[in-house]
Amino acid sequence: MLTASSMYELCRKARMPVHAEKEPHLGALEMMSILTAKETSRVISAYDANALQYEQDFNDRCYKAPRLAAEAIRDFIQVEDRSKVKIMDIAAGTGKVGEWLARFGFRDIDALDGSRGMLDTLTKRNIYGRKIHDTIGYHRIDVEDETYDAVSMSAGFVEGHVPVAALDEMLRISKKGGIVVVVLRYEYLWTVEEYRDLEPYMRSMEERGLWTMLLRNITAEYFYEKEGITYVFRKL
Ligand SMILES: C[S@@+](CC[C@H](N)C(=O)[O-])C[C@H]1O[C@@H](n2cnc3c(N)ncnc32)[C@H](O)[C@@H]1O
Repeated sequence: MLTASSMYELCRKARMPVHAEKEPHLGALEMMSILTAKETSRVISAYDANALQYEQDFNDRCYKAPRLAAEAIRDFIQVEDRSKVKIMDIAAGTGKVGEWLARFGFRDIDALDGSRGMLDTLTKRNIYGRKIHDTIGYHRIDVEDETYDAVSMSAGFVEGHVPVAALDEMLRISKKGGIVVVVLRYEYLWTVEEYRDLEPYMRSMEERGLWTMLLRNITAEYFYEKEGITYVFRKL
């Protein structure tokens, strides 16, 4: 396992800011190396073992994905509808997206995650309704067609985590006219083999008349100095 000091050196070599003066604790960077694996089963075990640490280390200062996902939903749903709409948070983790959504006035939020440990921490937030312990990918998840007004996934597209095929399930459980939000680290579109297919697949869904893209936005300092990308689609 990488120690904080060896991670510090790696960050320096990769020219990533380590925020030594502001934030000597390198938790989230170190955690990221533990949580990235080639197979989903190993990824899930890593989250099970590190849920409490994740909750602490991936704080709002170094990690913007949950806020970006929640803001995207907020921006495409009328204020007067916020307390009524049904939202599904995919790869919900410890529930950081739900916390932002609740601040914005959303009340009906469900979660799906492959890690029991992460869902246990999420449950303590008392924000989510239904909590589904399952992975998303090639199989049908236990949700009826067209259930949700908004389906979002914050940072589920990480190496070894969620395959591109999950977009089909996210679309299936969205209502017609509902929105699908995806947030991930921008560079994963070319550095992670699986996600080189992400945008072509998103485009093919648009060409097949399944959804239309409403937003594609790149954000600075998504995870430390790394950029993030947010997509919003409307189901047709
Ligand atoms: C980087 S965390 C993001 C958590 C949360 N969305 C956030 O932004 O804080 C990734 C989450 O995806 C979950 N995960 C990984 N692969 C998954 C899969 N195939 N299906 C469902 N959840 C998965 C992990 O258990 C973990 O909670």
